[in-house]
Amino acid sequence: MKSFIEPFKIKAIEEIPITTRQEREEYLKKANFNPFSLRSEHITIDLLTDSGTTAMSSKQWAAIMDGDESYAGSRNWFEFEETIRDITGFKHIIPTHQGRAAEKILFSVIGGVGKIIPNNTHFDTTRGNLEFSGAIAIDLPSAEGKDPALRADFKGNIDLIGLEKLIQEKGKENIPIAMITITNNSGGGQPVSMENIRKAKELLNKYDIPLYLDSCRFAENAYFIKQREKGYENKTIKEIAREMFSYADGATMSSKKDGLSNTGGYIATNDDKVAEKAKTILIVTEGFITYGGLARRDLAALSQGFREVLNENYLEYRVGQVRYLGDLLLEAGVPILEPTGGHGVYLDAKRFAPHISPEFFPGQAISCEIYLEGGVRACEIGSVMFGSYDENGQFNPALMELVRLAIPRRVYTKSHIEFIAESIINVYKRRESLRPMKITWQAEFLRHFTAKFDYV
Ligand code: F0G
Repeated sequence: MKSFIEPFKIKAIEEIPITTRQEREEYLKKANFNPFSLRSEHITIDLLTDSGTTAMSSKQWAAIMDGDESYAGSRNWFEFEETIRDITGFKHIIPTHQGRAAEKILFSVIGGVGKIIPNNTHFDTTRGNLEFSGAIAIDLPSAEGKDPALRADFKGNIDLIGLEKLIQEKGKENIPIAMITITNNSGGGQPVSMENIRKAKELLNKYDIPLYLDSCRFAENAYFIKQREKGYENKTIKEIAREMFSYADGATMSSKKDGLSNTGGYIATNDDKVAEKAKTILIVTEGFITYGGLARRDLAALSQGFREVLNENYLEYRVGQVRYLGDLLLEAGVPILEPTGGHGVYLDAKRFAPHISPEFFPGQAISCEIYLEGGVRACEIGSVMFGSYDENGQFNPALMELVRLAIPRRVYTKSHIEFIAESIINVYKRRESLRPMKITWQAEFLRHFTAKFDYV
């Protein structure tokens, strides 16, 4: 069969708001032209994030009803710990309420002034937490990953030559860990090959530097390895995941993605000393070591979610749905980051709106217009998120100007995807009318969440 179907049927539905263009103009203005500031009841299709927006299964909801809310030693914790250990093989599993809490704790332990931490591409909260600790975050995407129009199998790979150069230049004593983000979210949801992870580990071993995976979308990454990397065709997703984690000394996780749940995260490590310090900080900031800021019923839903995400029928539909949206856009000539990644389609704003220079945020202008067109919320991942001015007033743009259409897991159907495509294609047809934008207010850290915008 050529067509894919959602490998589930719908048991509960949630009505979505349908608004008029005039209403949306009002809402967007009130939100200071920042889709993050829109109210969800004004959004028809929400592609802001795939994080925590998953539709849970009936088995997950049933697990929630059966939660054991003991403060310490809940059976839901032991089931969770066992499930994660079974997939990752790590010695210590430390639960947190979401991914950035795991990052905050890890970098409180191993970060700090003078430390340098490389990654294929740090996600914004990873970078934020690192920099907050005083450390320096370095992105080392592969050359292929920097060209949105280039089709390659593993554009998420870390640049191994760059990594070795960095270690030699900065000194291994200043690099407490190296990270690889699977899939590489900021680089377009692109997968990292098993070979790249293995080679990174071999290289880091030479210098005694531990490798940590930012593993939010580990199952999607494993599915791409199965599809694209020789020797993995006949392995299960769990076997592939287990091998990926076997090359790492630890991991951070936002379970709001491939935990198929609405909340949760963890730090995993094989290092006893890191674990001990992390657990102390956990108790002070998140909660006891058998719940880490989560309700125990959340742990129950997560254990079930982590089992479901390894299902190949699910992953085939998941990656197929994202590809379907990409194909509809490509057929209409809309420039996107190719090939489509695991959790969303990324519009290439530089080619979509070449008349707006990065300094005037083409991605933001496109996101706003897509909302006005169809009530679809998307997210700029470009110079709003990563651009900055240096001390001489020189503008440093982001590597790429992208607009991310992140697809929530198991939420939208094929007809929703067609509606999204139509909205974007309509905007593309009148792309010359897109206008440059400016920031009128911004916070010191992670400005994109709360910044206010206007047209120039
Ligand atoms: N690392 C990566 C690669 C992520 O994509 C995210 C979150 C985090 C860490 C932090 O996890 O949100 O649970 O604290 N990404 C979301 C997104 C927010 O929309 O891509 P968190």
